[in-house]
Amino acid sequence: MTGADAGRYPRTVQCKAGDLQLRYMTAADETAVLAFARALPDHDLLFLPRDIAQPKVLAAWMAEIERGALTTVLAGDAGAVVGCATLASEKLSWSPHVGEIRVIVAAEMRGKGIGRLLIEEMFRIALRLGLEKLVAQMTVDQRGAIAVFESMGFRGEALLRDHVKDHTGTKHDLVVLSHDVARFQSTIEAYGLTKAR
Ligand SMILES: CC(C)(COP(=O)(O)OP(=O)(O)OC[C@H]1O[C@@H](n2cnc3c(N)ncnc32)[C@H](O)[C@@H]1OP(=O)(O)O)[C@@H](O)C(=O)NCCC(=O)NCCS
Repeated sequence: MTGADAGRYPRTVQCKAGDLQLRYMTAADETAVLAFARALPDHDLLFLPRDIAQPKVLAAWMAEIERGALTTVLAGDAGAVVGCATLASEKLSWSPHVGEIRVIVAAEMRGKGIGRLLIEEMFRIALRLGLEKLVAQMTVDQRGAIAVFESMGFRGEALLRDHVKDHTGTKHDLVVLSHDVARFQSTIEAYGLTKAR
């Protein structure tokens, strides 16, 4: 998906990690995304519906991007991927107004503002796409991730018990957080973020 925000990417932004490039993911990023995914702690991949460390899954992911159901923005540093955010939405589903955010940052790059930056980019894309509500799902023990989303105004909406099974067969509860897109727009306008970046 490039039409919703044509011209915004690629762009270089500054954060505590230094200068980072944000760009839409394309097929040319396959090797870098696989290397990024394979270096992630196993547990961090649990909130993703598919194992993105598998080349087959990556190919299906690219096909979904081409179909317009997924928009992925990568944050990069000297050719390597250090963060990745995806907005998933289904126009023909019964929730065409809802988007799901999936965001993940390389373990050694956390706490430097990359997650917040990527989530803000997802909000911008959601606004352009006319989405009204955003959700994010994670296991209840991802306390850091829950804190990040809550600091950006997301609130817990549902708890699904034993909903995720890891590769050892252990089940985990899943929490669904949500946020109203229009409310986020007024927040970023109030803080002048739209003009700042
Ligand atoms: C969630 C995740 C993407 C956050 O990325 P990040 O780059 O570390 O986040 P940021 O540095 O931008 O932090 C954003 C805010 O959350 C706060 N925060 C970050 N980590 C935190 C933690 N462990 N506990 C409490 N607050 C935290 C930061 O202080 C920051 O607040 P501020 O902007 O007011 O200072 C990252 O932890 C991750 O990849 N987790 C594993 C995958 C996952 O669970 N994803 C969520 C499912 S969609």
